[in-house]
Amino acid sequence: MTQLMTMAQTRRADTLAVHSLDEYVISVPNLDEAYEFYDLFGLKPVRMGNELHLYAHNNPHRYARIKQGSKKRLLWLSFGVYAQDYDAMVTHIKASKVEIISAPEGEDEKGIWIKSSDGFPVQVKIAEKSSPSMSPPRKIEPESNGQGRSPNKSKVLKVHPLYMSHVLIFTKSVNGALEFYGKLLGLRLSDSAGDDLIGFVHSPHGSDHHLLAFLKADDYGFHHSSWTVQSIDEVGLGSMQMNAAGFKEGWGVGRHVLGSNYFRYIQDPWGSFIEYSYDIDFVPHDLDWPAANHPPDDSLYAWGPDVYEEFGVNFEVVGQQFKPKRIHPEQVT
Ligand SMILES: [Fe+2]
Repeated sequence: MTQLMTMAQTRRADTLAVHSLDEYVISVPNLDEAYEFYDLFGLKPVRMGNELHLYAHNNPHRYARIKQGSKKRLLWLSFGVYAQDYDAMVTHIKASKVEIISAPEGEDEKGIWIKSSDGFPVQVKIAEKSSPSMSPPRKIEPESNGQGRSPNKSKVLKVHPLYMSHVLIFTKSVNGALEFYGKLLGLRLSDSAGDDLIGFVHSPHGSDHHLLAFLKADDYGFHHSSWTVQSIDEVGLGSMQMNAAGFKEGWGVGRHVLGSNYFRYIQDPWGSFIEYSYDIDFVPHDLDWPAANHPPDDSLYAWGPDVYEEFGVNFEVVGQQFKPKRIHPEQVT
């Protein structure tokens, strides 16, 4: 059921656009640490040589590759396009002024590789649609039948997110990114806030309110990936799950305005974040979402704790040093 939901192939006719952020690729300095972090979060990390591949537990799509590197760094983004649109997309890309580049060292030349507005590689290739094609699931407890509806704390199950909703990247120019991913890849503006501050894009073939978002910074970088869970309870339980393992820093639980999702961000071992997300707005393939620009103070979150002080810091910028804050359970007396 879930697999069908995420992998269904909705397509808007006569519209040239990528349908999914097929996967993101980052480097981190310690793959063992990464394995533990993503496993604790509820994903399925798989070691493949010098890489870690990230899956959800309930479907076969690979959402991310984590490479061994000297530091945490966004390496590239890979987008999926329908097979019947691929040739037209390549023609469209070649007719633009964008720079076509070779695949990164060691990667095959599958698809077409181009230089993004920030200068990092972007791949466009034929792929199955991995972005959701319908609204995210809502698991609501049935009416009380003579007993309490909350499980005992000892009986709660580990949270396993269903699929990746979106990625937020830092960019040197939000307007430049909107132009690049919009004009070149066909992603559409959902909403933005401020002047060149933050922007959200969706696929016209049906996706969450954003499958990719941009936040202005001095350099490009990976800010967070976001994973869909089925209830506000699972946002809270996921947060507790990470708390118990010592990953206590982050932001939330709260509710965003743009995208509407309930959120909890957990700071990862490298200063970026991973998000439990519930009930994000969905943009079907046959709906034209009314994009608008919003005042930042009125659009980041409707309720929740104060924004975490390092939430907007790009630790991939030269000179920014992240100090890991995990408190290992064995350190707690
Ligand atoms: Fe998010």
